[in-house]
Amino acid sequence: MTDSKAQVICLDGPSGVGKGTICLAVARDLDWHILDSGSLYRITALQVLRQFPDSGTDSIKVTQLAEIAKNLSVTYTEKDGQLMIVLDGEDVTQSIRTEQMGAKASEIAAIPEVRTALLQRQRAFLQPPGLVADGRDMGTVVFPDAELKIYLTASAEERAQRRYKQLKEKGIDVNLASLVEELRQRDERDMNRKTAPLKPASDAIIIDTTTLDIEQVTKEVMFWVNQRITR
Ligand code: C5P
Repeated sequence: MTDSKAQVICLDGPSGVGKGTICLAVARDLDWHILDSGSLYRITALQVLRQFPDSGTDSIKVTQLAEIAKNLSVTYTEKDGQLMIVLDGEDVTQSIRTEQMGAKASEIAAIPEVRTALLQRQRAFLQPPGLVADGRDMGTVVFPDAELKIYLTASAEERAQRRYKQLKEKGIDVNLASLVEELRQRDERDMNRKTAPLKPASDAIIIDTTTLDIEQVTKEVMFWVNQRITR
């Protein structure tokens, strides 16, 4: 299943906890590959919205949704030190980041057939020397034998505040209360779905980042990386 020459670090946790930033910092430090598994669910959501613009997820056949997930023609490259995501030749790096796409992704991520359709694709990211994988079920389902599993958490209010600040800095006007509400809804769906719900693996190290800044979280994560990973 996993390439024996490649090691894995799993970073799981709820939306807006800063996994992406930490993942990049760790991958840079080790010079390892990255898997942003949420982007695969977001890209699937984008394709579903494009192919079925007027249909709710419930009214689309599960086999059709799984087929879309299985046949994504997506490539990940690096551009100016950032991850660039190209779907059928189109740069979708920004367009999949909207709250709408996050909510739609969370809806379709609750469908077991969609998750199965994306499983091998996620595992294929594991290449030597190693992979830093960011998601909800990296440590519980996708890479159960990972060398290091970290579960990041923070209160919904704190995560919403961070997101609010980011969006404000980009000049995007948002309402803090609705951000908190959206995060709560997404947590609720991700934690309570039947297949691969968001939860820490039994052997994960749990870090509550509510009162920590990004440097402090990175330092804590790197402490565990240095304990567990052979460079
Ligand atoms: O991490 P991100 O916010 O991009 O993920 C979008 C949605 O995709 C999540 O809310 C979750 O429902 C789903 N997801 C998942 N399993 C993963 C990664 C993301 O179910 N490993």
